[in-house]
Formats: sequence, C-alpha cells, structure tokens
Amino acid sequence: MHTMRSIAVALPLLTNGVLAGLYPGLSADNHTCELSDPVPSCSEGAQPDLVDTCCVETFGGLVLATQYWNTYTGLESEGQVLPKDTWTIHGLWPDFCNGSYTQYCDLSRQYDPEPYPNTTTGTPDGTPVEPYNGPGIDKLIEPFGRWDLLAYMKKYWPGLNQPSHVLWAHEYSKHATCFSTFDTECYGPAYRAHEDAVDYFATAVSYYRRLPTWDWLTAGGVRPSNDTATRYSLSEIQGPLAAGFFELPYVGCSGPRYNTTEAGRGSADDGYTILTEVWYYFHVFGRPQSAQALPVSANATGGRLSNCARTPGAIWYPERTEGSAV
Ligand SMILES: *[C@@H]1O[C@H](CO)[C@@H](O)[C@H](O)[C@H]1NC(C)=O
Ligand SMILES: *[C@@H]1O[C@H](CO)[C@@H](O)[C@H](O)[C@H]1NC(C)=O
Ligand SMILES: *[C@@H]1O[C@H](CO)[C@@H](O)[C@H](O)[C@H]1NC(C)=O
Ligand SMILES: *[C@@H]1O[C@H](CO)[C@@H](O)[C@H](O)[C@H]1NC(C)=O
Ligand SMILES: *[C@@H]1O[C@H](CO)[C@@H](O)[C@H](O)[C@H]1NC(C)=O
Ligand SMILES: *[C@@H]1O[C@H](CO)[C@@H](O)[C@H](O)[C@H]1NC(C)=O
Repeated sequence: MHTMRSIAVALPLLTNGVLAGLYPGLSADNHTCELSDPVPSCSEGAQPDLVDTCCVETFGGLVLATQYWNTYTGLESEGQVLPKDTWTIHGLWPDFCNGSYTQYCDLSRQYDPEPYPNTTTGTPDGTPVEPYNGPGIDKLIEPFGRWDLLAYMKKYWPGLNQPSHVLWAHEYSKHATCFSTFDTECYGPAYRAHEDAVDYFATAVSYYRRLPTWDWLTAGGVRPSNDTATRYSLSEIQGPLAAGFFELPYVGCSGPRYNTTEAGRGSADDGYTILTEVWYYFHVFGRPQSAQALPVSANATGGRLSNCARTPGAIWYPERTEGSAV
C-alpha cells in the first residue's frame, strides 16, 4: 500500500500507456544493458529519447525500498507468521524524480485482487482498476522454479490481514508496472509471461537484504517494548537509521495522533505515535535491477521526513504479538 502521501496527477502519457506499458511502440529487440552506460536515474541524461529505457530508469527514477514493522499478520493460524528480529518487506516503488508518483501503469499486468486505490490515478477521473480474480501471483510464477525466492518472500514479505501473495500482486501491479526497466519488452523477443514479476520480486528482495532496519535500530539501542515507560523520540529513531543508510529515510507511524492520547492532551503535535514503516530513497545507476544505487534523503525533493509525533518520547515501537513471530 501507499497510503501516506497524496496521489500524483497522472501524466497525459499514461492515457496511451495504460494498456501497453509505459512507452508504446517500444521494440523487444536490442536491450543488452551490458552495452549501455549506467546513467543515474533523475540525472539530465536519464531521458527516454537519450537512453534505452530498459537499461536506465527513465520513468520512476526515485526508487523507494519500503519496509514494515507489523506486530501480527492476522493469518497466523494458517502459518503466515512474521520473521523474528527483522523488519519485513513492503515493496519497491518508482516515484517520479520530483517525489510524486502514479500507479497501475499497465492494466494488461493487473493481478491485484484488491486494487487500492481503485483507479489508475486514485481520483474518480482515472481509469478504473478492476479487481483480478484468477490464480494467485505465486502460482503464476511457480513455473519459473524459483522456489528459493518464493520461500524467502513467504518468510520476509508477509501480508497484513491478507494472504501474502495478495500483497505481492498488489505491489507488482501497482508499482512494478511504473518502472521503465520492468516493461515486458525489456526481456527481449523470448519474453515469457510473468518473467518481469519474478525479476521485480527478486529486485525488491535484493534491496531489502541491504537495508537491515532491525540491526541499525538495535545498534542504536532502539528495541521494541510494550513497557509504557519505553517510548522513543523521532530523532532517536532517525539517528541510527541515518548512521546505517548515510541519509535520512522516511519514518512512518500509525496509531493515534499524539494530541489525541493521554500523554499529548492539549499539545499541538498531531503526529502519529506507533512506529510502522521505513522508506529508503535511492537514485539508481542504470537498471534498478542491478541494485547499484545512491541513497538520497527522503526530503531531498521537498517531501517530509516523517508523519510521526515530534514531541520527545512520543513514539512507541511495539513488541510483536506472542506467537506471531517465529
Ligand atoms: C536492433 O539492432 C540491429 C543491429 O544493430 C538493427 O539492425 C535493428 O534495426 C535494431 N532494431 C531496433 C528495433 O532498434
Ligand atoms: C512531477 O513529475 C511528473 C513526471 O515528470 C510530472 O508529471 C508532474 O507534473 C510533476 N509534478 C510536479 C508537482 O511538478
Ligand atoms: C472507487 O471507490 C470509491 C469509494 O469506495 C467508489 O465511490 C467508486 O465508485 C469506486 N470507483 C470504481 C471505478 O470502482
Ligand atoms: C491536534 O493538533 C492539531 C495541529 O496542531 C490541531 O489542529 C488539533 O486541533 C489538535 N487536536 C486536539 C484534539 O488537540
Ligand atoms: C531535510 O531534513 C534535514 C533534517 O531535518 C534538514 O537539515 C534539511 O535541511 C532538509 N532538507 C530539505 C531539502 O528540506
Ligand atoms: C505489544 O503491543 C502490541 C500493540 O498493542 C500488541 O499487538 C502486541 O501483541 C503486544 N505484544 C506483546 C508481546 O505483548
């Protein structure tokens, strides 16, 4: 999901691209990225008329690797549990270089059973995104024999109150379709259906593996606790993350707003109080798939660094539910 920011106005380009990928007319031939320079996304040279859009990210050049801290999955009884002592994958998102974004860019690759929002632009005038009701995306990628990848996703990419494969399909259809480098033409004339989905999931995993949020926070003395005396300041969370990432990621909170809680009564601080997400921002060299990326600050494009409460000691990093993490 992608719920904490406002939705971008769709590009006029998208009205053509919606059924056919981002660049209609793109050939499946000649996308040997080894032959092209790893031009950084969001640089002057990263324009669709200057580079191979399959080899340089020209559409969603501000890449976000997003992670969750959830305390349960809601489907524990079916064996969907959280991995111990680590955050989990949310997704890999292609924002525009100016920090806004769009979604569901190719409705021919719509496998999301619960499209959210329900139009391509998130506004009533966007193209409706119809719910998908075929086999789960996990079933669609099984023929690739990447059982190791599926097992890793099952463990580290769990859904919340929905089967994990629904989250994977949502991330893929909403976000992967808005990267130029995951366009199906990029996989050549021998493209096999869903090859790009396998590539997207593996890429999201490769970013996740290099962003050990749990370890960074722990090294900074920030650990989950349900003891009401243990609350953190935003700066106490940002410090260790910036020490690990070298830039400030976006820190997302949920739960009640500080000034609706007992402790915050009468305060002007209406930030949220339960630590839930971290979003790491990058510019990428060449294809995001190569994971050669430059960390950038979450506020580099004028966006905010957090929606959490800023009052010292206002943020709760909750312990997971007994039995939810194994
Ligand atoms: C692909 O490359 C070949 C060899 O350079 C060239 O003849 C052909 O026109 C190219 N095709 C496209 C679609 O660019
Ligand atoms: C941000 O960039 C996108 C893509 O280039 C563009 O469509 C949109 O209008 C821009 N938004 C703002 C606020 O400049
Ligand atoms: C999208 O959801 C809104 C709010 O539930 C609803 O009013 C609208 O009709 C839906 N649009 C489509 C295209 O399904
Ligand atoms: C919380 O803070 C916001 C922003 O300062 C303010 O508009 C709102 O009235 C406050 N709410 C309460 C319940 O104090
Ligand atoms: C980003 O946030 C940091 C820390 O609050 C601040 O020093 C910096 O000026 C901000 N940068 C932008 C571009 O807003
Ligand atoms: C800690 O609190 C969270 C949020 O209320 C709850 O979901 C979780 O079960 C609690 N964990 C433990 C171990 O009590």
